[in-house]
Amino acid sequence: MNKILVTGGLGFIGSHTVVELQNEGYQVVIIDNLSNSSEKVLDGITAITGKTPLFEKLDLREKADVEKFFKKHNDIKGVIHFAASKAVGESVQEPLLYYENNISTLVYILKELKKLPAASFIFSSSCTVYGQADELPITENAPVKMAESPYGNTKQIGEEIIADTCKVVPSLKAIALRYFNPIGAHESTEIGELPIGVPQNLVPFITQTAMGLRDELSVFGDDYPTPDGTCIRDYIHVVDLAKAHVVALGRLLKGENKSSYETFNLGTGKGSSVLEVVNSFERVSGKKLKYKIVGRREGDIISAYADTTKANDDLGWKTQLSLDNAMLSAWNWEQKVRS
Ligand code: UD1
Repeated sequence: MNKILVTGGLGFIGSHTVVELQNEGYQVVIIDNLSNSSEKVLDGITAITGKTPLFEKLDLREKADVEKFFKKHNDIKGVIHFAASKAVGESVQEPLLYYENNISTLVYILKELKKLPAASFIFSSSCTVYGQADELPITENAPVKMAESPYGNTKQIGEEIIADTCKVVPSLKAIALRYFNPIGAHESTEIGELPIGVPQNLVPFITQTAMGLRDELSVFGDDYPTPDGTCIRDYIHVVDLAKAHVVALGRLLKGENKSSYETFNLGTGKGSSVLEVVNSFERVSGKKLKYKIVGRREGDIISAYADTTKANDDLGWKTQLSLDNAMLSAWNWEQKVRS
C-alpha cells in the first residue's frame, strides 16, 4: 500500500482528497497546523471511509520538525501539498506571512523529497496565475500574468520552484494543478468548507445569507461586458476536484507522465455568472436569496473558465457533477453545520 502525505489534509480541498485517496486504497498521513481547520474533520473522514488517517499536528515552517517527520515516515511515496494561506486581501497586508507559509514550507518539503529514492509531488496551484487571460477558455499554454497579490505570487513562484527542482532532481516528478473555483461539499455532509469569520468567497456567502447569518449578498458589479453584466467563473465541485488529485498522483506513481513537471487546469470548462450561481442556489434550495447589486470589487477579473482538453485527454479525468449538485451539497452542508 502506497503511503501518501497530505499537507493541509484537514482543510477544505485537503479533507475531500483524503477521502478519495482512502477510497482508492492509499494509506494517508496528514500534516496540518490547524490554523484554518479542526481536528474534528478527522471524524468526518472516518465516518465516510471507515478509516482514520494518521495525523500529525505540525507546522511546516519548523524546518527541524519537517526533517524529523520525513525520517520517521521514510516510506512516503508521494505528497499532495495543500497547506498554504489563501486569503488574497490578507496577503496584501501580511506579505511575509504568505511568503513564509507558502514558499518556505514548499522548499523544506522539496528538500526532504530530494533525499528519497523516488517521490511524486502534487501542488495546489490556481487559475489566478493567468490573471485576466486574453483568450477564453483558458488553456495551460496561456501566459502567466503579473501576480495581483502576494498570494497569487506565491502560486507562481511555487510553480517555478518545483519546475526548477524537477530539472535537476531525477527522482522527483511533479504536477501543478491549477484550480478554478472549488465549491460544494461531500454529499454525506460529513465534511465541507468552514470559512472563519465573514466569507470572502461567493458560495459560502450565499449559503450563510440563506441561513440568516448575513443580511444579504452584495453582488460586486453588474456592468461587466458579460451577458448579464456580472463576472464569470468556472465553479468546480470539490469532490470532482479531489478525484483529480488521485488521478494525477496515480499518473506519477505509474510513470505515465510525459515530463517530470506538468501543469493541468482543473475546471468544468463552463463559465457561470454570479447571477447564474444565485439562480442555481434558489432552484436547488427552494429559497429566495436576498441580494443587491453594489460596485465592482477591486482586483476582480471579468471572466475565467478552463479549457479542460488537456486534463480530459492526458489525465483521463472529467468532472461528473453539475453546478446544481455543488450548490445543493453546499446548502446541505451549511444547514448541517448550523443545526
Ligand atoms: C478568489 C480570489 C482568488 C482565489 C479564489 C479562491 C480574489 C480577487 N481572488 O477568486 O485569488 O484563488 O478566490 O477560491 O479575491 N462575489 C460577489 N459577492 C461576494 C463574493 C463574491 O459578487 O460577496 C463575486 C466576485 O465578484 C466574483 C465571484 O463572485 O465575480 C467569485 O468570487 P470569489 O468566490 O471570491 O472567487 P474569485 O474572485 O474567482
